[in-house]
Amino acid sequence: MPRRLLMCSPSHFDVTYSINPWMEPEKPVDGGLALAQWERLRDLYRELGHTVDIIEPVGGLPDMVFAANGATVIDGRVLGARFRHMERTAEGPVYLSWLREHGFAETHWPEHINEGEGDYLLAGRRLLAGTGFRTDPRSHAEAQEFFGPPVTGLTLVDPRYYHLDTALAVLGDDEIMYYPAAFSPGSRAALREMFPDALLATDEDAAVFGLNAFGDGRHVLLPEAATRLAAALRERGYEPIGLDLSELLKAGGSVKCCTLELRAG
Ligand code: ARG
Repeated sequence: MPRRLLMCSPSHFDVTYSINPWMEPEKPVDGGLALAQWERLRDLYRELGHTVDIIEPVGGLPDMVFAANGATVIDGRVLGARFRHMERTAEGPVYLSWLREHGFAETHWPEHINEGEGDYLLAGRRLLAGTGFRTDPRSHAEAQEFFGPPVTGLTLVDPRYYHLDTALAVLGDDEIMYYPAAFSPGSRAALREMFPDALLATDEDAAVFGLNAFGDGRHVLLPEAATRLAAALRERGYEPIGLDLSELLKAGGSVKCCTLELRAG
């Protein structure tokens, strides 16, 4: 099934502040390379038959390339994003306006902090909801009231995996892969119970952002350095496609962070 995706070009991308352990503003970013790597991801989505819409980047918002954080869109309904850090707060209204202008009429400006699909991942008709670093747990109840599919809160405990989409990826309706050590013991137990057959990532694959992946049910786009995950995915019948997004990783983002799924009603 082709998906509709929203992406934002990294033409204003840079690492000028640090709001996660990956970001080191002293380290140079190669803007040209970041753009080429991002274009490869965009082109690949299109080659696979998905539709990619592009939102215009805004100067002074270097993390706007991480479209996943811009909103959560389920059944054509849009929950806006309200960022934890002031460096990113302006992004929420920019994404929400774009969605309104592109036919998404049912929008909700959130009361509580939530960083969009960074912390909300839809697995089948279950909404997995991260908290611990960015999204306020009170947002989970807000999402439950607004959307409908049952929301399951999951607590992240390792600052390197500060968004749910850095520690867990949805492969199909009932199949996920995740890195257990990124979650609290209670959340690990819940994940085991909901997804007994999940693919578990090694420390090495998690550390190269292997879980920041996009799956369409058949292909799984993921950082190419996550070689064990790729092999395990192939064994399960998926087609892993590795990408190099080294420049975006300097901000703590990769494949999934650059991708917001627009799920129609
Ligand atoms: N530098 C960004 C931040 O810390 C990276 C966001 C990555 N996005 C994601 N969906 N995990 O907010």
